[in-house]
Amino acid sequence: MTQSLLEIKDLSVYFDVPEGVARAVDGVSFNVLPGETLALVGESGCGKSVTSMSILGLIPSPPGRIERGRIIYSGRNLLEEKEEHLRRIRGNEISMIFQEPMTSLNPVLSIGRQVAEPLMVHRGLSREDATAEALSWLERVRIPAAAKRLEDYPHQLSGGMRQRVMIAMALVCQPRLLIADEPTTALDVTIQAQVLTLMHSLKEELGMALMLITHDLGVVAQVARRVVVMYAGQVVEEAPVADIFDNPFHPYTQGLLRSMPRLGQNKGRLAEIPGTVPVLTETIAGCRFAPRCAHQFDRCRIEAPPLFEIADGRRARCWLKRYPDRRKAHV
Ligand SMILES: Nc1ncnc2c1ncn2[C@@H]1O[C@H](COP(=O)(O)OP(=O)(O)OP(=O)(O)O)[C@@H](O)[C@H]1O
Ligand SMILES: [Mg+2]
Repeated sequence: MTQSLLEIKDLSVYFDVPEGVARAVDGVSFNVLPGETLALVGESGCGKSVTSMSILGLIPSPPGRIERGRIIYSGRNLLEEKEEHLRRIRGNEISMIFQEPMTSLNPVLSIGRQVAEPLMVHRGLSREDATAEALSWLERVRIPAAAKRLEDYPHQLSGGMRQRVMIAMALVCQPRLLIADEPTTALDVTIQAQVLTLMHSLKEELGMALMLITHDLGVVAQVARRVVVMYAGQVVEEAPVADIFDNPFHPYTQGLLRSMPRLGQNKGRLAEIPGTVPVLTETIAGCRFAPRCAHQFDRCRIEAPPLFEIADGRRARCWLKRYPDRRKAHV
């Protein structure tokens, strides 16, 4: 069995909000293997960003707090590491790209300076050497006339170009894991495809792992090897990408796939999953998806299902695994 690069074990992240305690992430476990592309999918608010931000110690506290769990990287629990150690890992071994580059780029520093910075901090390069390396990375992410752009500030670039700068910044130190949180949703559709293709080819070239957070199942089908599906703060299904599309087990995954637009068929309304996501501050008895599930039976409303192993490398949080014939599932 391949050794994991990163292992998230029973992670729970809560937020103290005026309404009570929002259990944004509640017992999440999954791993990332070296060099693979893992997609993390699920509706807005299901905890994808909170999970990924926990990895690098970026949860704002208060209101957030890590309630329990472990995040193992290189044999160490990142949740117990000091800020200084996390700083050494951030951008050097594990990098992150966010949805909106303007919030992550510094508006008052030139592009060249920002791409060079991680090399000076983590690799101890001189400003001159770091700038030369930064230039080669701007060329690698195909920024036209990169040498001239070195002196530009973020607001002088288009959204697509800014996102390329973010990719260059994230990759200059050649990390072992890149976490990309909705890296292209702020961009035009054609630019989205270009940026994604670029990210994917650099990932292959550098042999790094990619944890890709996205709403876009089309993107998942294109680049992912495995998929983790989250719902209301929990993992509800995990499977190799082909199984997710050909044979999804969890009714929620099935619903997500039905809501996916298909080429030539997107004229009508998309099939939406009826109902709404649960309020995270409320205690939920039973399965969190039960109120929206067409297959639910008595037990689903009373007892929360565990994450069942349904085949090698496949897990699903659904009572249908234990009770395929749900009429026999008396509580
Ligand atoms: N700073 C915060 N203060 C309070 N609650 C928060 C905060 N950040 C996140 N949450 C809670 O965590 C939940 C999960 O948020 P998260 O950002 O992880 O969702 P997401 O899956 O990334 O959604 P999206 O697809 O919209 O990016 C939110 O619904 C919210 O209740
Ligand atoms: Mg998010």
